[in-house]
Amino acid sequence: MTEAKKLFVKTYGCQMNVYDSERMAEALGAKGYVTTETVEDADLVLLNTCHIREKASEKLYSDLGRLRALKAARPGLKIGVAGCVAQAEGEEILRRAPVVDLVVGPQAYHRLPAMVEAGGRIVDTEFPVEDKFSHLPERRALRGPTAFLTVQEGCDKFCAFCVVPYTRGAEVSRPVARLLDEARKLVAQGVREITLLGQNVNAYHGEGPGGTWGLARLVRELAGIAGLDRIRYTTSHPNDMDDDLIAAHGEVPQLMPYLHLPVQSGSDRILKAMNRKHTAEQYLRLVERIRAARPDILLSSDFIVGFPGETDADFQATLDLIRAVGFGAAFSFKYSARPGTPAAEKAPLPAEVADARLQELQALITAQQQATQAAMVGREVTVLYEKPGRLPGQMVGKSDHLHAVHVPDPDGRIGEIVRVRVAASAPNSLAGALISRAG
Ligand code: 5AD
Ligand code: SF4
Repeated sequence: MTEAKKLFVKTYGCQMNVYDSERMAEALGAKGYVTTETVEDADLVLLNTCHIREKASEKLYSDLGRLRALKAARPGLKIGVAGCVAQAEGEEILRRAPVVDLVVGPQAYHRLPAMVEAGGRIVDTEFPVEDKFSHLPERRALRGPTAFLTVQEGCDKFCAFCVVPYTRGAEVSRPVARLLDEARKLVAQGVREITLLGQNVNAYHGEGPGGTWGLARLVRELAGIAGLDRIRYTTSHPNDMDDDLIAAHGEVPQLMPYLHLPVQSGSDRILKAMNRKHTAEQYLRLVERIRAARPDILLSSDFIVGFPGETDADFQATLDLIRAVGFGAAFSFKYSARPGTPAAEKAPLPAEVADARLQELQALITAQQQATQAAMVGREVTVLYEKPGRLPGQMVGKSDHLHAVHVPDPDGRIGEIVRVRVAASAPNSLAGALISRAG
């Protein structure tokens, strides 16, 4: 028997890339590749890249620099670049980095095994008409009780700063039947929590029985799968939060009380320049409606500071919005000009101004996150155990509100959902005591 070939995958960026990396590993698994955690052992190295900000895409080239020595020592080693930098730069990567053999865009992953077999230096960044998901093997090789499920890809919103509509293409929703089938199989493999993924997930509009289904209908149907205890979805656009989806937050117990709803800025002037197509006031009203449906929902957001033309007053409006909402978590970024996007044509702000604003915004968010966590102390939460903790006899999992919770529980098993009383809040997690095993 010949020894299995080894695949090392490095994933940069978002959860969609995490999901895609798993699917690529599964597709190559069907061709005899087993994954390795040690790059030195690999026959094939895949870098699944992110293009969202300049720093993210630069990481690719610094990693390729390091891989050069490895390839010099092992000439048989193949190196592939996947993901959004592959899509955006294509052939340019082969020119800039002679060490690279394959460049494969996110819509061509099902063709990766054939590309590897063919050999030579190849680029495939087509957006083929056929659905890549129908050509990928069924899911296997799952780890743990939580899984991602891509329901929608691409984005038609064209926010002025964002490369996603160019790298991931137009919005495409996967058909309902295939998603239900994939979800049932995940549950049969022991998955209890599924996070539905899409660049614009709440714009989901997949073909289903009786016509086109929105995300709320899909969520309600998924909630009917016995053994699927928790459902989450990310990332959403405020303008696609329809009444049915808001109502589902109050009606579907499996839908967890956490919503990532990026607003980016609190200034109407900047929101307009960003092409977000809503005002700060509209966002605040939306938050009110969501909270009316599910009062304990934890809200998180993304923010960009230092967008071209952002004045101090604009920035203060963002801080005002943050104070008005009270976020449980948030990601914040300094604006990064991306080639080909409309905002990249405009003059950037001085770096010191953007840096100072980012620090101020992050301090406010951190304070809100700590307050949200502190408010959990004394409360009862459910926790889905994902792995053993660092201390002996300790388990770690996520609460309904997506807080990491550490629990001393020597009998705890991965995949178990337990009831826990929160005892303390640390900077990025909670600690609690077991109340009962919920099942
Ligand atoms: N510069 C900085 N942040 C960006 N994001 C998207 N594009 C850029 C950019 N050019 C942020 C947005 C988005 C998150 C995924 O990344 O906040 O919601
Ligand atoms: Fe990018 Fe999100 Fe805007 Fe789409 S909605 S363009 S993915 S920031």
